[in-house]
Amino acid sequence: MTDDNRQLAELAIDIAREAGELARRRRAEGVSIAATKSAIADIVTEADREVEALIRARLAAERPDDGFVGEESEAEVGRSGTTWIVDPIDGTVNYAYGIPSYAVSIAAVAGEPDPQSWVALAGVVFSPANGELFHAVKGVGAWLGSDRLAVNAELSPAGALLATGFGYDPATHAGDLARVARVMPLARDLRRIGSAALDLAFVASGRLDGYFERGLKPWDHAAGALLVEEAGGVVGGLPGARADNAMIIASGPALFDRLQAAAAGPE
Ligand code: IPD
Ligand code: CA
Repeated sequence: MTDDNRQLAELAIDIAREAGELARRRRAEGVSIAATKSAIADIVTEADREVEALIRARLAAERPDDGFVGEESEAEVGRSGTTWIVDPIDGTVNYAYGIPSYAVSIAAVAGEPDPQSWVALAGVVFSPANGELFHAVKGVGAWLGSDRLAVNAELSPAGALLATGFGYDPATHAGDLARVARVMPLARDLRRIGSAALDLAFVASGRLDGYFERGLKPWDHAAGALLVEEAGGVVGGLPGARADNAMIIASGPALFDRLQAAAAGPE
């Protein structure tokens, strides 16, 4: 099983590198917005679509029985019990503006392609702008390149370095800001990097102490959440729930309960 999961990770690494190189090249050539999606601020570029098509075609060629769920195309149910959860460019607004914080996120999960019940087997988050590649294999560990990752176990008396994000729908912003106000007493500072996949990779690597956000889609967190768990961290949702669209919280074990309690609460 572990060997199978390693093979899934190796394939995801290979595809993420090729996909990331395409994204980087298209960015260098200049990016135009192709359409808006759920809200006027929620954009897709031609590169998002092209990169997803590349990832999908490679997976279909190498793993024809697996399912596929991606941000930019129709989901397909598989026959093998394994589904690929793909965000071709996480951080599309950064990408469109030329901010280098964007990532290719690819995960393989077992079971229903639903974050409430899936078991993540392998995950890759690749940052094309600087070549950093994070990967995790269930039950084996998480790495940045060849360096083993570990979340921050201890909390600084100065407080936690946290990150969050804000959804595209303006109607949710007041609730997001109220949550930030509740969480700030735990924080030494707060980052808004603009890519949930990188936020989670940074928690896994100890560059952040914790991360929380409302409104993520499965492809935003599938790979990153496995990175955090395999680096010894905790990922959850609102108290008693798994991470889902309502909330994701990720941190080391020492911070998790306090961060979760502060993030929960009235919208
Ligand atoms: C978004 C990014 C952002 C987060 C949003 C996501 P996209 O993904 O991860 O950091 O705040 O909730 O939708 O649209 O760039 O793929
Ligand atoms: Ca995304």
